[in-house]
Amino acid sequence: MTSAIPNRLPSAAKYTLAQLSNLLPVTALLYDAWRVKSLSLLTGEDFTLEREFALMLEWLNVQPDQNFLDVGTSTGNYARAVAERGAVVTAIDLSKPMLTQAQKLTMQPNITYEQVNIEALPYADSSFDGVVVGASLNEFFDTKQALFEMARVLKPGGKLFMMYLRESDTGFGRFAQTAFKLSGIRFPNRDVVAATLLQSGLERSRAELRRAVTLELFVKTGRTSVTPSDPAERNLSRAAGKPATEPLT
Ligand SMILES: C[S@@+](CC[C@H](N)C(=O)[O-])C[C@H]1O[C@@H](n2cnc3c(N)ncnc32)[C@H](O)[C@@H]1O
Repeated sequence: MTSAIPNRLPSAAKYTLAQLSNLLPVTALLYDAWRVKSLSLLTGEDFTLEREFALMLEWLNVQPDQNFLDVGTSTGNYARAVAERGAVVTAIDLSKPMLTQAQKLTMQPNITYEQVNIEALPYADSSFDGVVVGASLNEFFDTKQALFEMARVLKPGGKLFMMYLRESDTGFGRFAQTAFKLSGIRFPNRDVVAATLLQSGLERSRAELRRAVTLELFVKTGRTSVTPSDPAERNLSRAAGKPATEPLT
């Protein structure tokens, strides 16, 4: 089932090398060969896509009358898993070849694909019951802006599921991640992610850590943290051993 994919990208945006590589048709064609094995290779366990989807769907408790945003959908894996439960899904990506491939693989009429940059979402505040993000957090140019945008479009009580590779807990691990960072791949610190989302009223409710692979669920409670622009409060948070709200790249 194919239909025209709307281009809703902002007229100017900065892209990293990693993002530019996803604009190539060959990347879209080869992507799923990597994706089906990716979590098994990264965790060292038998971590199939089915296991990943089952965990995501259990945490989200997707209902047929809900609507979801799949951010950085690539070939549409998360979008199809959520749509199987009957929810309406808007699946977005920067890459036209990825979206075209996703559309070719999709039979469900309840998924719409759109070319959109997460950092400038063309959707109103509180428009979605849920947001899902599979590994895309590692690729955004401005991670903090992306997190704020996801939080903005979530309804109160809405859920955010993310799977990403976090900053390594060891010095050697952080050194190994440096080479990838040169291409624009980010390894967000999970405490900083949580502190950033808390500014928008989202609290972490579930987490599963497998090596650097991080699966997390946040819920929009509406309770917000101190603003990062308040140095006195920030020092208080540090003194209390809470994560500081550092700018994300
Ligand atoms: C690692 S893939 C994730 C694929 C998919 N979510 C999954 O679980 O298989 C990252 C995707 O995010 C997209 N992407 C990167 N930066 C983006 C941005 N700023 N806005 C929207 N999509 C973006 C890339 O084009 C790429 O298709």
